Amino acid sequence: GKARLLEGRRVVITSGPTHEPIDPVRYIANRSSGKQGHAIAAAAAAAGADVVLVSGPVSLPDPAGVTVVHVETACQMQEAVDKALPADIAILAAAVADWRVKGAAAQKIKKDGSGRPPVMEFTENPDILAGIGHRGEGRPALVIGFAAETADLLANAKAKLERKGADWILANDVSTPAYGTGIMGGDANEIQILSRDGVEAWPRLDKRQVADRLVARIAAHFEPEDE
Ligand code: C5P
Repeated sequence: GKARLLEGRRVVITSGPTHEPIDPVRYIANRSSGKQGHAIAAAAAAAGADVVLVSGPVSLPDPAGVTVVHVETACQMQEAVDKALPADIAILAAAVADWRVKGAAAQKIKKDGSGRPPVMEFTENPDILAGIGHRGEGRPALVIGFAAETADLLANAKAKLERKGADWILANDVSTPAYGTGIMGGDANEIQILSRDGVEAWPRLDKRQVADRLVARIAAHFEPEDE
């Protein structure tokens, strides 16, 4: 049955966007509702896993039965993930900002009347998935990332699998309609799951169904004889 497929497994999941401050009242961010990552956390917990969900700012409730760590920035997310390890499974679903503003202002930036907008310098954020994927000692047995692409989906996802040292990449095409009506912000997702063994295309499913399917696939990976 559906019961306790991940009993005794420790899972760390990231979800949502990160917010990178410009000043105390402004930030840059990626578009992410957190719906898919949160659904995976809920499904893994329902399957008996011990789940730590590291969530960026989202407007979703904390999933039941999950330890949730709320963070804002990529650096905070990385630190929270590090603290949550060791784990058997890492699922990095967050839309982490690739850059943060270098030397964010301590006070609100004001228009100075010159008509010249402020100039911002950026610095690269840590890649949480790559850090875990390429870990030697203490690497989770299964490291899963996402690739949201607007072009060359499979080529980009394959490159990501290699570059980030992931075992599986869940790739989806986000070149769809406006936020909330397409895959970004919407309730449905259309996944192609890449591993070193090949590609598997899933039909368009509700994000909760994607989560259940992923949990079942993870369980089968650990205990193939149960299939
Ligand atoms: O390179 P890109 O951001 O498209 O890769 C997406 C995958 O990498 C996702 O699994 C995302 O959570 C992860 N990622 C990360 N840390 C970053 C950037 C991306 O964990 N700084």
